[in-house]
Amino acid sequence: MINEKYKAMLGEKSVIRMISERAAARRAEIGADEVFDFSIGNPSVPCTPAFTNAVIDLYENEAPSALHGYSPSVGITSFRGAVADSLNRRFGMDYTEQHIFPTSGATGSLAHAFRAVTKPGDEVLTFAPFFPEYIPYVEGTGATLTVVPPDTTAFQIDFEAFERALNPNVAVVLINTPNNPSGAAYSAATLERLAGILRDKQTEYGHDIFIVSDEPYREIMFDGAAQAYPAKFYDNTLTCYSFSKSLSLPGERIGYVAVNPRATDADVLVPMFAQISRTIGHNCPSSTMQLAVERVIDDTSDLSIYEANMNLLYDALVDLGFEVVRPSGTFYIFPKALEEDANEFARKAMEYDLFMVPSDSFGMPGYLRLSYCVETEHLRKAIVRLRQFVTEVYGERE
Ligand SMILES: Cc1ncc(COP(=O)(O)O)c(C=O)c1O
Repeated sequence: MINEKYKAMLGEKSVIRMISERAAARRAEIGADEVFDFSIGNPSVPCTPAFTNAVIDLYENEAPSALHGYSPSVGITSFRGAVADSLNRRFGMDYTEQHIFPTSGATGSLAHAFRAVTKPGDEVLTFAPFFPEYIPYVEGTGATLTVVPPDTTAFQIDFEAFERALNPNVAVVLINTPNNPSGAAYSAATLERLAGILRDKQTEYGHDIFIVSDEPYREIMFDGAAQAYPAKFYDNTLTCYSFSKSLSLPGERIGYVAVNPRATDADVLVPMFAQISRTIGHNCPSSTMQLAVERVIDDTSDLSIYEANMNLLYDALVDLGFEVVRPSGTFYIFPKALEEDANEFARKAMEYDLFMVPSDSFGMPGYLRLSYCVETEHLRKAIVRLRQFVTEVYGERE
């Protein structure tokens, strides 16, 4: 008998995918140059030559049985050690390979993290605006997702709203910094305050509350700033990472969960992840990928184009009279729409071949997410089109 739950999900297709499919159809019709697609976060810069060379070298010189054989169920030891050493060097942590579990990108990482520290019926709290896929990621485990309303001034945490939402049923607080879609990065002060509240609540409720920290954009930070490392502030932190964005490898499906060595049951969580893998049909990422990424563990693609694009787009949006918080990182920007209904705004923009995602599915209406991982020259043309759209439809603006 067909499973009605997944059948019903067919009617809840991702808005991001739907808009990007429309943009793709339009590209086929009128050519890519005339379509300005801000919908999807697919890295536009290539992976590094060092990564490509590592793959070539492995294929030429590594034993096929090592490259194509099964990875141990907790991952390849040398990859796990390379991740631990890199995090220790960069963030002053004390991970060993025992605390690292390779996964299929951030998606696989979150799937393991949620299952390890929640049981069906528990609550996972997150903050608006949030990545819409968190709904199926969390609900697929049997837990429920509760969304804390946003602090729209800077997209840090509205702590009053957060404290109101906390209750003994909360097992996980899910954070994403720098954030998709706002581009905001939590400051050290925000992380410190969050940790302090959670430590008090753990004592009050008499059980652990884990932070699951989703960090696929950790390396995409602007103005020379670095993202403060959440696990440094709070012991019960599971850090979920992906090389999809930093090394431009989203199709390779490689990431990891790092268990803070000071977390409750830190020594059993990684072996538990391997058991979770058995139940969800996800085993470690490809052995070749683990071995290749291990060789370039501290590298990133050339991410500077994202900062150049952000500056161009931010200045244009401000000039056109949009209310917008300047992103600290990622390749997204999140302006307020020029009319109350962002869906209507996005629909009108599409008539100008400008494709952007209205914010309802990010947990707060009235905004738009623009992904600017595109060629800078194309972005310049897009800005001309955006100016034409805004002035024709909404009039001259200050
Ligand atoms: C905030 C966030 N979390 C998780 C993911 C999933 O990442 P991955 O492709 O590595 O599974 C994405 C992808 O865009 C994302 O933006």
